[in-house]
Amino acid sequence: MSRPDSKGKKYPPLVDGFGRKITYLRLSVTDRCNLRCFYCMPQADFNWMPHDNILRFEEIIKLVRVLAHQGVRKIRLTGGEPLVRRDVVRLMEDISVLDGVEELCLTTNGVALKDLADRLYGLGLRHINISLDTLKRARFHEITGRDLFEDVWAGLQRCLELGFAPLKINFVMIRGKNDDEITDFARLSIKYPVEVRFIEFMPIGKDSRWGRQCFYPSDQAKDLIETRLGRLKEKRRKAFSGPAELYSIQGGRGAVGFISPLSHRFCSECNRLRVTADGRLRLCLFSDREIVLRDILRKGLTDQELADVFRKAVTKKPARYLVNNSDVPSCDRQMSSIGG
Ligand code: GTP
Ligand code: 5AD
Ligand code: SF4
Repeated sequence: MSRPDSKGKKYPPLVDGFGRKITYLRLSVTDRCNLRCFYCMPQADFNWMPHDNILRFEEIIKLVRVLAHQGVRKIRLTGGEPLVRRDVVRLMEDISVLDGVEELCLTTNGVALKDLADRLYGLGLRHINISLDTLKRARFHEITGRDLFEDVWAGLQRCLELGFAPLKINFVMIRGKNDDEITDFARLSIKYPVEVRFIEFMPIGKDSRWGRQCFYPSDQAKDLIETRLGRLKEKRRKAFSGPAELYSIQGGRGAVGFISPLSHRFCSECNRLRVTADGRLRLCLFSDREIVLRDILRKGLTDQELADVFRKAVTKKPARYLVNNSDVPSCDRQMSSIGG
């Protein structure tokens, strides 16, 4: 049985051993997904996390409540695909009203948005990032293993109608696969009030499909966009922001962003922690050195005890990701069970 909670109690802010303030939690709520993106899911041999290992809603709420009392202000739900978790909208409602939570955000593949966008807007969610790597239906099928481009596009349009802002599109650049669409995606930010982010493909998961031949650096994308669409003007980044560098295109309604973990490492500004769906705390995307929160939570700790666990854990956050002998970072855990 759990011991009484210290409601309303505030704890000192979480600061790691390098003076970085932790204000952002990326919370994966499931490792399951309704797509099979080749760069994210193992192609075969994948074992879903057993149901009992997945954090229950009350466990998630407890850890978010404590982290919010320790200065975490932004919570992003990720997956797998977060919208396939049953009752996730209820979970989001419960998180959004927690003391200290200022920004609730969602990263989704967009498949379910045409059905759920209205409810999400209704509960007060405004920050949605939609993963979309192509505007071509056949290519979408090839990349994701499912013929669902039209669903994602309809969901995106519905989000625009409802007025979600900021609305972001995540485009992972893969040379030889979708780099011929970089300009078309940048044009979306002229036509629509969206932030289109060009993301460098990262080697994540022990069977990662990453290779140097398919790596496309942000600087090349930026040069290409400037050549085709005119000069990019740098924009100021907001508080609690993620890693994107933002630019506007003249005459555009939105913005373009570049997320460059490999070519311009941004670890010195890292403000985030990750919790996997089975309750493991990851201190760096690329580090498999995890802290098993699930067992700790199931022992029925008080909020104070849990706060101490987080405080000690962040002292172990590495200064930057480590590179392996081929000079790139990597990790064993699959992207689909980290959530990016
Ligand atoms: P905003 O808060 O909207 O800026 O979102 P975000 O960029 O933090 O989140 P999103 O889930 O949209 O992730 C976009 C890309 O950034 C994904 O490829 C993530 O893996 C990557 N990303 C986010 N945080 C980190 C990080 O700390 N390190 C690395 N290497 N990549 C990250
Ligand atoms: N490298 C970069 N980004 C990735 N994503 C998934 N796998 C990778 C990878 N290997 C992106 C997804 C999603 C976000 C959570 O991470 O497209 O937008
Ligand atoms: Fe699913 Fe997102 Fe991974 Fe694609 S990138 S398989 S949409 S979790």
